[in-house]
Amino acid sequence: MAKGTRAFVPGLEGVPVAETVLSWVDGEKGRLVIAGRDVEDVALTATFEEASALLLAGDDAPPTAGDVKAAFGAAREAAHERLPELGAALDAPDAMDALRAAMAHLSEDRRPGVPPFLAAAKLVGAAPVFAAAWARKREGLPPVKPDRAASHAADFLRILRGAAATEEEVRALDTYLVTVVDHGLNASTFAARVVASTGSDLVSAVTAAISALKGPLHGGAPGPVLDMLDSVGDPSRAAEWLGSELDARRRIMGMGHRVYRTRDPRAAVLEVAVERLHRALSAGRAESPAARRLELARAVEREATSLLAARHPNRALRANVEFYTAVLLEALGVPRELFSAVFAVARTVGWTAHVEEERRKGRLIRPTSIYVGPVPDSRHSTKSRSLP
Ligand code: COA
Repeated sequence: MAKGTRAFVPGLEGVPVAETVLSWVDGEKGRLVIAGRDVEDVALTATFEEASALLLAGDDAPPTAGDVKAAFGAAREAAHERLPELGAALDAPDAMDALRAAMAHLSEDRRPGVPPFLAAAKLVGAAPVFAAAWARKREGLPPVKPDRAASHAADFLRILRGAAATEEEVRALDTYLVTVVDHGLNASTFAARVVASTGSDLVSAVTAAISALKGPLHGGAPGPVLDMLDSVGDPSRAAEWLGSELDARRRIMGMGHRVYRTRDPRAAVLEVAVERLHRALSAGRAESPAARRLELARAVEREATSLLAARHPNRALRANVEFYTAVLLEALGVPRELFSAVFAVARTVGWTAHVEEERRKGRLIRPTSIYVGPVPDSRHSTKSRSLP
């Protein structure tokens, strides 16, 4: 090891790089605390606006859920007005590329006196509008005008699908959005904090975060989870299909996590939400497509858990948040190409809250690397170097 350098930790695993009051992940115990509440408590009871108010409370006068709802609604309408200016941004074949490009058209309101939650709301409100417009455009459909009086979850489903959602659907999307609203120092949040630590603006931090979230090892897994369920097709085929994937050294999407050594607590919350939604969608019919999908997902999870335990006895590889995200968003009629962008819709709250926290307490994030390349003969230790 080079003199003066500390031990290299690949992937910065377990290395603290910030202090936060926003969320805490206890990977050993499988616990997630969001703004002082366990995820099971907050996600199954709070609306997205209520959870956002807790996270965006960095001000001296924290916003109420009503303030947040009004700010998100106004921002959705403002973003809709800007759709004609976005040009080719929404033509990108990948939803995350489109979302990043569209968000980059925004600018942060940094006028003195503008409360941070309002600056954040401009981005939080825009994300579902851009995501829905992208999905509709590729179907040849015009964007739907948002309704500022509606909740974020209800309005998102309406402007995406063109028809109002049921109460159960809105509740399920609220649960999803709250479940993934923040999650410690994951890769995209770290990216946002690195950008914020340089003194850069909120839009730059959020577009960097979207870029990080796009990767399949972070937020890009739920679409492939559905592809996997489609390929397995029937619970009786799960063991064989998964076994051949593992033999080919391919990763099972929706399984494993960098921090959790248990089942991801968010998987449990989302499984409950999916079950409730499916019960409402099935309307008492035992053999509905929704019920069959959930049964298949559970069978695949069971088999994947046991096969991975046999192959990696020293590494707990259990279902992560993406597993039931896929089943939930599919049941809500969200196209799978949009899954990561819906994750970003929720996480924009977490990112903007972390940016605000970084600005208040942080210091330029500038780690070091260990140089392992060649070094020319030392000519400068005692004499001054002569330049060629
Ligand atoms: N399927 C099959 N094997 C897996 C696996 C998975 N989902 N996740 C990890 N492994 C294996 C690795 O191949 C590695 O095997 P090896 O020791 O023989 O090389 C071992 O388990 C340790 O994995 P490691 O790469 O150290 O885990 P990590 O902490 O870097 O990875 C994830 C965490 C999330 C990136 C990883 O579990 C993964 O790729 N999961 C699938 C993608 C996914 O669901 N992403 C969403 C995350 S919320």
